[in-house]
Amino acid sequence: MIKTKKITISYREAESPGELDTETRDMIEAARKSALNAYAPYSRFRVGAAIKLESGRIICGTNVENAAFPSGICAERSALSYAVANYKDDRPVVIAIAAITDAGITEEPVTPCGNCRQVIAEEESRNGKNIRIILSGKDRTLITESVADLLPLQFRKNYLKVSLP
Ligand code: THU
Repeated sequence: MIKTKKITISYREAESPGELDTETRDMIEAARKSALNAYAPYSRFRVGAAIKLESGRIICGTNVENAAFPSGICAERSALSYAVANYKDDRPVVIAIAAITDAGITEEPVTPCGNCRQVIAEEESRNGKNIRIILSGKDRTLITESVADLLPLQFRKNYLKVSLP
């Protein structure tokens, strides 16, 4: 008999910055600041991602677009690539995402694309550590405690029959 299964995801939602703690506000500020450095002449959708590592260090990334569209990269993956390349053993614990259009900071909290969710998932599983994800809009903020809440049934590295480092 085929059974129907349900997956529950959860997130916290704040209606205004005043409801957030200082760390969350600081992370959003870092993501917004970083978004200003984005290279997004084609979409004019500038995204910033700020990652806090376990040591407390904060590193940022932006989207970098390209005339050959698929060659562009999202802010989340540019920040995570930088983190892995430079601080491989300093595990990411929080990532905040913000976006700015010509009309200013987006009203809606920005949620990562599918590719970025999968890359965050790999990072969580590589480190055995959940990453808090802060999705920020102009006033409203959504917070998940793991990418599992954004990407249920994710493709897992243990499906591949290779010996991992
Ligand atoms: N983008 C990101 O940087 N992060 C996301 O999670 C979604 C989309 C970028 C890619 C592209 O440069 C622009 O936003 C419009 O899609």
